[in-house]
Parts: sequence; structure tokens; C-alpha cells
Amino acid sequence: MTALVPLDAVAPEAVEALLDRAFPPGRQARTAYKVRGSVRPIASLCFAAVEEDRLIGSIQCWPVALTQDDGLVHPMVMVGPVAVDPDRQQGGIGRELLHHMLDAAAAQGLDRAMMLIGDPEYYGRFFGFSAEHTADWRLPGPVERHRLLARGPDVPALAGMLGPDPGQV
Ligand SMILES: CC(C)(COP(=O)(O)OP(=O)(O)OC[C@H]1O[C@@H](n2cnc3c(N)ncnc32)[C@H](O)[C@@H]1OP(=O)(O)O)[C@@H](O)C(=O)NCCC(=O)NCCS
Repeated sequence: MTALVPLDAVAPEAVEALLDRAFPPGRQARTAYKVRGSVRPIASLCFAAVEEDRLIGSIQCWPVALTQDDGLVHPMVMVGPVAVDPDRQQGGIGRELLHHMLDAAAAQGLDRAMMLIGDPEYYGRFFGFSAEHTADWRLPGPVERHRLLARGPDVPALAGMLGPDPGQV
């Protein structure tokens, strides 16, 4: 049976090994990693899917912000990476992790502005993320605009630079 537990309960090396299995090589060079920089994850929104003692999925979230050119800061939660062991993909574990995280974010009042870089066919269809408000965001690396997604009533539809939340660095 699959259990969802706080990611803190899992050895960091096991999480890195799962991410290595789920993503192609070079994931650390992706723009998503540059956006969050060296900020610490939001522990209360990071979860692992485990079966017996085996890690089969993980989700992490980070404090980021869109900073307008006049300096006004709009904090957001960045979602990802989300990873399911290749042996166990397409079995509902990714959806379970996302829904569990979104429920936790709602309970903590952290679901008003969330963003991620990912496939709209997955994150739009199941979780309501869209690229509707992100067209004017600038990022510290290349991004396919249709994969820059956001969700929530406080998502800033404004021009600005996306990066680690300066209040958390
Ligand atoms: C993307 C990922 C997290 C999805 O988790 P999962 O447990 O495999 O998928 P789920 O069981 O939750 O969802 C399955 C459904 O979503 C669809 N789906 C899964 N991944 C998809 C994607 N990248 N794009 C579009 N649809 C996708 C499937 O077709 C399936 O649809 P169906 O129910 O109509 O058949 C997982 O496949 C994964 O780890 N992939 C590699 C790493 C990655 O790309 N992570 C996301 C970027 S941060």
C-alpha cells in the first residue's frame, strides 16, 4: 500500500536517486533550478510516496517571488520537481502527490499563488494550472512559454523577474 509522508522522513540521497531515475541527465541545469536558487524548500509542502520502505514518488515546493521593476514583490509557491519512479508511472501516484500537496497548501493558506514549469496537458487537465497570467514574467533561463504555468487568485499577471523569494533567502 502507498503511504504519503513528509519528505523530511526520507533520506536526501534517496530523493536525489529517485530524481535521477525520473529525469534525464543534467536536470540541475534546468531553469526551474535557477528560479529557486539556494532557497530552502517549504517543508510542510514536500511529500514522499513510499511503499514499505521504498521511495516511489516525491514532490517539493519552494518560496519564490515575482519582483516587479519598481521593486514590489509578489511571493508565490513554486511546485516541483514532481517525480514518480519510472516503474510506477501512470498509476495515479503523481496525482495523489499533487492533490495531497494542494490540500496541505489550502489548509495553510499557501495556495493563493502557485507556479511551476511543466506539461499543461497534465497540470492543466488535473490541477487547474494555466499559462494565462505568466506571459510577462522573466526568468533566469530559457523557458517554453506554454509550460510556464500558475494557479490561484493572487497570481500576478504583471511584468517582472521570477526568482527566490527575497524574504526567504
Ligand atoms: C509527470 C509525472 C509526475 C506524472 O505522474 P504519474 O503518476 O506517472 O501520472 P498519474 O498516474 O498521476 O497520471 C496519469 C495520467 O496523466 C497523464 N500524464 C502523465 N504524465 C503526463 C505528461 N507529462 N503530459 C501529459 N499527460 C500526462 C497520463 O496520460 C494519464 O492520463 P489517463 O489517466 O487519461 O491515462 C510522472 O510521470 C513523472 O515522474 N515523470 C517524469 C518526471 C517529470 O516529467 N516530472 C514532471 C515535471 S516537474
